[in-house]
Amino acid sequence: MFQINNSMLIEPRKLTWPYGWCGHIPFVSWLIEEQRPNVIVELGTHSGNSYLAMCQAVAENGIGTKCYAVDTWKGDEHAGNYDEDVYNQLFKYHNEHYAAFSNLMRMTFDEANTYFSEKSIDLLHIDGFHTYDVVEHDFKNWLSKMSENGIVLFHDINVRERNFGVWKLWEELCTQYPNYEFKHSHGLGVLFVGKASLSILIERLKTESVNSDALVAKMFARLGELIFLKTHLDVNENVSQNKLNIDIGQEIDRVKNLIENKQNEIIHHTDQLVKTVTEHFSSSVKKNELIELKLDIQQQLIKKLTEHIDYTNDSIQSNLKVQQQLLNKIIERNSIWNIQPLRFFSLVLKGQKKEAIKPFKKAIRSLLRRLYYKFPSKWQPALLDWAIKVHPSWFKNHPRVLLNKKK
Ligand SMILES: C[S@@+](CC[C@H](N)C(=O)[O-])C[C@H]1O[C@@H](n2cnc3c(N)ncnc32)[C@H](O)[C@@H]1O
Repeated sequence: MFQINNSMLIEPRKLTWPYGWCGHIPFVSWLIEEQRPNVIVELGTHSGNSYLAMCQAVAENGIGTKCYAVDTWKGDEHAGNYDEDVYNQLFKYHNEHYAAFSNLMRMTFDEANTYFSEKSIDLLHIDGFHTYDVVEHDFKNWLSKMSENGIVLFHDINVRERNFGVWKLWEELCTQYPNYEFKHSHGLGVLFVGKASLSILIERLKTESVNSDALVAKMFARLGELIFLKTHLDVNENVSQNKLNIDIGQEIDRVKNLIENKQNEIIHHTDQLVKTVTEHFSSSVKKNELIELKLDIQQQLIKKLTEHIDYTNDSIQSNLKVQQQLLNKIIERNSIWNIQPLRFFSLVLKGQKKEAIKPFKKAIRSLLRRLYYKFPSKWQPALLDWAIKVHPSWFKNHPRVLLNKKK
């Protein structure tokens, strides 16, 4: 009768490329909870997907198993040769989480073999070099180390290319030992080499009918697939996140430049206007005419500034519409809410234009203030009176207004 358990629903905390083994994580976790091994040895660890999952299952079940991962961490013809980063990253994560009960043994399998006593290992995972001769050598070399509870796992029993030969050895071993096999994720063979381990196969893994056996195998394949799919989602999410960061960064730079150019244009225009007005005033004739002209220029100036800001606003809106969803996603995920350009874009996109435009209004006021001080001082009181009339809300706290109120 199949024994359902909590560990088969494991959520692996650490998965690193290559992900070829990930599909077997639910089964190996299930097995660890059922077998409760005293000693686990893995031959071939690479980035650590299988090994870290086993450590996690041990930790989550509080079993107190001693775990050993053996690898040169140099790679081989099948896994490819990889650089030191692979070992360094695993070493760091391993030491932070599992150093209390686990060891990384950086050496060849044959060298490690001498460090284990006969009949001392309960769970052995063979996942080194995959030619027939080498796997056979590894199996034979470690068999005597297996305890009465001994179970040996073989990865890649379902690979028939690149001179892989695990399938062949597996076929031979199946005639000699009780076994169970999974075909998904390149295949995993489970060989019950210790007499006592057989109870796990018979009482907890096997079911009453062949159909139900197939169902259990299918269930582990589906659970494994979920983990495999998750690795893909994580990878894709990272890729899109990076792409988004680049896109948004580029868009922010573009709009920043646009705003800067427009601001420079506005400054240029206002300077020109001030120059013209001042020249005009110095050769003025009638006071009334001058005031009218001054008002006219001021109105034009305000119109021009507003046009520029509307133009900038429209341009930002049309360019950012496409990015809206992506931007919202980023804002939700990261707390970069306080970055001003992002806040501005987001407010515009949310339709809160008034709030978004506030800084621009502030900029206009400061420009007008600059402009005001460029006028000859004799014209400034009249200009101020006019401005108070045109935009009273800007001047409600101005001393002149407060003074008038008191009167
Ligand atoms: C297929 S990878 C292991 C994959 C790993 N179990 C996982 O979950 O992704 C094989 C590893 O075995 C190592 N290896 C192969 N032959 C070895 C040997 N004789 N001694 C030590 N390490 C070996 C390689 O360095 C490689 O990292």
